[in-house]
Amino acid sequence: LQSTMLIDKHFTISPVDPRLYGSFIEHLGRAVYGGIYEPGHPTADENGFRRDALEAIRALQVPIIRYPGGNFVSGYNWEDGVGPKDKRKRLLELAWWTTETNEVGTNEFADWAKLVGSEVMMAVNLGTRGIDAARDLVEYCNHPSGSYWSDLRISHGYKEPHRFKTWCLGNEMDGPWQIGAKTAVEYGRLANETAKVMRWVDPSIELVACGSSSSGMSTFAEWEATVLDLTYDNVDYLSLHTYYNNNSNDTANFLARSLDMDQFIGSVASICDYVKAKKRSKKKIMLSLDEWNVWNSIGSSRAEERWQVAPPEFEDVYTHEDALAVGCFLITLLKHADRVKMACIAQLINVIAPIMTENGGPLWLQTTYYPFLHASIYGRGTVLHPIISSPKHDTKDFTDVPYLEAISVYNEEQGHITIFAVNRHLTERMELDVDIRSFGEVSLLEHIVLENEDLKAVNTKANPRNVVPHSGGKTSIDNGRIKAVLAQASWNVIRLQ
Ligand code: AHR
Repeated sequence: LQSTMLIDKHFTISPVDPRLYGSFIEHLGRAVYGGIYEPGHPTADENGFRRDALEAIRALQVPIIRYPGGNFVSGYNWEDGVGPKDKRKRLLELAWWTTETNEVGTNEFADWAKLVGSEVMMAVNLGTRGIDAARDLVEYCNHPSGSYWSDLRISHGYKEPHRFKTWCLGNEMDGPWQIGAKTAVEYGRLANETAKVMRWVDPSIELVACGSSSSGMSTFAEWEATVLDLTYDNVDYLSLHTYYNNNSNDTANFLARSLDMDQFIGSVASICDYVKAKKRSKKKIMLSLDEWNVWNSIGSSRAEERWQVAPPEFEDVYTHEDALAVGCFLITLLKHADRVKMACIAQLINVIAPIMTENGGPLWLQTTYYPFLHASIYGRGTVLHPIISSPKHDTKDFTDVPYLEAISVYNEEQGHITIFAVNRHLTERMELDVDIRSFGEVSLLEHIVLENEDLKAVNTKANPRNVVPHSGGKTSIDNGRIKAVLAQASWNVIRLQ
């Protein structure tokens, strides 16, 4: 199997917005309680945050984390999560049929996010609530002092405002499962009015309007067009959500799903530009892919026994092939770095997540942790448009799927060029010839590989290092040409300088 790739420092797509490597923590399952927060855990700090989780998340260098939901936010009264902990209410939580203890709320999460070096992407409740609660929350979080809500924050021990910059106007408001789901017109009107006054409280914020919950929704496309028609001047981003699974156990088709993500992004960008044209606007709406991942347990119902506190939910165990799929998705996001400015792998810990913990026990890293880590660390700079020639194949749902999925990022500051590449072929290795002549002399820093003979191999508590990357990839450089061997079904990071 032979492929070629030409990269040139002048063929640029866009600088990467670091927020492409964002993630998401919802009050769902054991993401918050048992994940990032577990007072009494041997590694817990004085505020109850698990230090082992802090470390694993810090290593990922996640620049932004969406919070507190997800479906959860559509029934959440933010006031229940601030102030003295002993006065906080235990409440029935209707998105996931659990009991919410409210031990962690906005201020605790802001503290925690600071510890991991992330910004917070806040979401407001447009399910059961609206303009009033949203403007109060912005005042509470971002206004310095001298008003009721900002002074309340100060009285809760937070003298400095949190200055959250990015705000989501609700979550998946098109979904019938959502608390307070709406039609596109109902949502568009509410989102617009809410956005307007939130910005009056703090003009420096950026706002994300809800796109469809997935491209599979019957209202997809019409929803985007209507919502944008009603909100265009008051929002900055439109959200996209997409999850993929291999429940039909067709790996070739599964690994081709990134072509669907590619098309989804392209379609939503086109809808944004259609509304731009219609409005004769100069403003370009950017995209926030603020929920994406492999989700194999999707569709499984909520916890059988209702009203438990933080029961395990959606604790998918990720395989080697899932990691390859995540690699293909990351490459796809990079290809669209000119339009996708934020993206959140959903989620970060315990719930469809790259990081797992046991209550009272250890933490381990799933297979999907690694491609995300590599992209986040080495995928910063400017994305270069690659000219790729690769043999192709057809799968059940896709035609002309290239065996090679690849992109490269040039970090001019460091003088580093990184090639991210997945060999989708399940049984044959690939010889990849890369022409990088515009860079002159380069040398190889490292060729990292994630490979495994067993596509279904996983990391577990008992065997946490079953699928881990190594740096023994075969790459040689000769006269501005790189020759790399990509193992069958592998994720590769070729780092040059
Ligand atoms: O990430 C899990 C759930 O998936 C979120 O709560 C919701 O927004 C989506 O349907």
